[in-house]
Amino acid sequence: MLPTPLHLRKGSISADWRVEGGSEKKEEKKMGAISFPEGFLWGTAASAYQTEGGNYNNDWFRMEMADQQRPLPKRRMKEPCGDACDHWNRYPEDYDLAQELGVQVHRLSIEWSRVVPKEGRVDESALEHYRQMLQALKERGIKTMLCLHHFTIPLWMLAKGGFENRTIFMRAFREYIEVTVRSLGDLVDYWLPINEPNVVPLGGYLTGFFPPYKINPLAFIRVYRTFFEMHAQSYRTIKRHFPAAPVGVAFAFMHFQPHDPAKTGDRWGAAFANTTANLRFFEGIKTGCIGFPLGLWDALPGLQGAMDFVGLNYYSTTYMKGLIPVDSKAGDVVTDMGWIVYPPGIYACLTYLGKTVDLPIIVTENGVATSDEAFRIRYLDAHIRQVHRALVDGVPVKGYMCWSLTDNFEWDKGFGMRFGLIRIDYATQERTIKAGGRWFSEVMHKNGLA
Ligand code: FCB
Repeated sequence: MLPTPLHLRKGSISADWRVEGGSEKKEEKKMGAISFPEGFLWGTAASAYQTEGGNYNNDWFRMEMADQQRPLPKRRMKEPCGDACDHWNRYPEDYDLAQELGVQVHRLSIEWSRVVPKEGRVDESALEHYRQMLQALKERGIKTMLCLHHFTIPLWMLAKGGFENRTIFMRAFREYIEVTVRSLGDLVDYWLPINEPNVVPLGGYLTGFFPPYKINPLAFIRVYRTFFEMHAQSYRTIKRHFPAAPVGVAFAFMHFQPHDPAKTGDRWGAAFANTTANLRFFEGIKTGCIGFPLGLWDALPGLQGAMDFVGLNYYSTTYMKGLIPVDSKAGDVVTDMGWIVYPPGIYACLTYLGKTVDLPIIVTENGVATSDEAFRIRYLDAHIRQVHRALVDGVPVKGYMCWSLTDNFEWDKGFGMRFGLIRIDYATQERTIKAGGRWFSEVMHKNGLA
């Protein structure tokens, strides 16, 4: 028997995900100037593997290369990451452009396999390089938001069983974060130890759309629980060294809605998906216990209260037919990723969070893969309006960060997915600010929309 969704249990946290409106067209009617409160933080986000280039010593690169050996129809990865944006060498230019745009905070991540290239061996020169990157942001007046784990793990960790070998994994991860936090912490304004603790377990071990492409509910639960531990461990380590530093998480918020709102099964399926996919992690932080189906509300040491702010990543919505997610409907606007454009979804996620988690919220990712700048501007405009709507309704949203500063390597989809405010010509590595970048720059300067 399925457990009763949390929002239906007496005395539990409730989650009302219904929002009126929805289509891009309806949103366009709500135009008009809006301004954000003073001090609202505007910024951009990126990650190490997707931008740096030269990261050959991790699980993703290994899997991308292995995939190249498969016959074309069987390939799951578009292309290998290789040189990516050469951000490792070109970061001063990228940060000059960020400064020119008026970026106030930039989110970046550390590549574990650079800092610990072999088991037990720390590469001090990699840490020094990251210090210089953080310093370069500071020199340009840009605040830093640092992520310690954004999907990849070193090859030597993969050889030992990766995420599934919990004991070795946690020991190795602890050593990595300890040295990284100690070496870089004085240059960090905001911490996001883990990017999307829900995505690796879900994509890699339950639905099989991400490496290592497993569909194994038990492995899914084990790996997800490891992510809880990684988060709690990182939070405690950071606080031990930098007690005042704000620490959050960048969580992939998934918005689900009934495929047919008239059907009880679809409505129930959407409510169940919304609560289990989005609630368990935060419930864990609130209570210190891991809820069903990831646990039986068993306590995890160090988890309770291990968060100072919530980072919300939002892109799209999914329809539910009962408990089955289904494709977009005719008439839906989709991005190059095939993701449905649904701005009210970010409002729904924000208001839900505002009601359930008593913490400030920063939108740590929102953006669109497109080569059409008018479309990018419409997408960002509509979502920023919904963020404002949540603010007006009393949700403590403190900032908004666009994914991404530059075009970059979009995991299995490769370089064709252009999320950047700055275009990269991958043949020459030339950077050019796009129309969407200029538009977002104005938003940041005006602290609102015209
Ligand atoms: C998020 C990831 C980020 C990027 C965007 C498009 O889920 O955190 O790395 O790929 O999607």
